[in-house]
Amino acid sequence: MPGPASPVSHPPELIGRAAEMAAVRRLLDSRRLVTVTGLPGVGKTAVSMAAAAAAAGNFADGALLVRLDTLRDETLLPHTIMATLQVPDRFTRSPLEVLTSQLRDRHLLLVLDTCEHLLGSCAGLAMALLTACPKLQILATSREPLRVPGEAELAIRPLLLRDALALFVQRAGQAGVAVAAQNRATAASICVQLDKLPLAIELAAGELARNEAARNEAAGRTPADRLADLLSHLEADYDFAHDPGQPAARHQTLRAAIGWSHELCTPAERLLWARLSVFAGPFRLPDAQDVCTTSQLSDEVVTAGLSLLTERSVLLADERTPGEYFLPVILRGYGRQMLHRLGEDAEFKERYRRWQDTRRRGRGFRAAN
Ligand SMILES: Nc1ncnc2c1ncn2[C@@H]1O[C@H](COP(=O)(O)OP(=O)(O)OP(=O)(O)O)[C@@H](O)[C@H]1O
Ligand SMILES: [Mg+2]
Repeated sequence: MPGPASPVSHPPELIGRAAEMAAVRRLLDSRRLVTVTGLPGVGKTAVSMAAAAAAAGNFADGALLVRLDTLRDETLLPHTIMATLQVPDRFTRSPLEVLTSQLRDRHLLLVLDTCEHLLGSCAGLAMALLTACPKLQILATSREPLRVPGEAELAIRPLLLRDALALFVQRAGQAGVAVAAQNRATAASICVQLDKLPLAIELAAGELARNEAARNEAAGRTPADRLADLLSHLEADYDFAHDPGQPAARHQTLRAAIGWSHELCTPAERLLWARLSVFAGPFRLPDAQDVCTTSQLSDEVVTAGLSLLTERSVLLADERTPGEYFLPVILRGYGRQMLHRLGEDAEFKERYRRWQDTRRRGRGFRAAN
């Protein structure tokens, strides 16, 4: 017999997120599949691990974390779970049958972390396991939902500013840089510039610490200047912490974290993402159509694309202003780089400028395609 499932151990220390933790717990009380979704690096894994660790005591067999971020071959999904369960993979039956028989009687919370690149397989596996194993529950994390009947989705938003700032100060402190009280306002503006996304904040705090020594040497730079320097660096360059000799792992650089979402998009979604990057603020569907529609990208494709990019956690729909979308700054920067590579930046910046001008004058605008 295999040993007991290895528990979700050492969940990260969370800053804030009490409401999200409570929401996961509440959903787990009534639904057998809960999927935590949200932007790249928003904290899906952190929240889910903490919630699973807190909920594990309600499951006789505890909670088991299966990380899927390094799994590329979807046919190996059942094997990966079996390996985490320490079930030997030497059976004549199919891996799914073996897995099902192992889990049939277990009262277990299975945490499937990072499903977006294996959506179809994770959905199929979740349905098969939940049907065959009556006491099993699944908590999944994914940049987009699995779209399985009965799934409860919890879309988590960026941090509250208070918590984003606390994370920035904490991570900078861990890297040896104290953010003094008089610099909190600049640090807060950096958090806002980064859309209060934890991963971006962590990388920025690390970058601040890395460059601190060099910046200290620059005569006359105050700490506030140095934080402002960091801001301009963030807008210009997404390769923090990148060692050019090494391929970047998913969370080592923003480019890698966002490139992961980019890979999962269709060509039309990528093109729309690139063109939308010219918007400096929120926009609505007609605005996106005005600026982005061409013979290559029809109005219909732009309409569908806004929904699809929102489902994929590339765009964020504004909670308070229905119908309004925005592209978080780190995704916008990536989009700008794509637009540049496509050789379309001058054209679409000009279309955006004309759209702004016309809007200021209160007239409708439609760029010539
Ligand atoms: N509330 C929080 N308190 C402290 N650290 C956090 C918090 N939320 C996220 N983090 C940290 O930010 C980083 C990104 O979080 P996490 O890995 O959970 O994001 P994610 O949404 O799962 O990303 P991805 O889309 O790439 O899977 C991690 O290092 C995580 O520990
Ligand atoms: Mg994750």
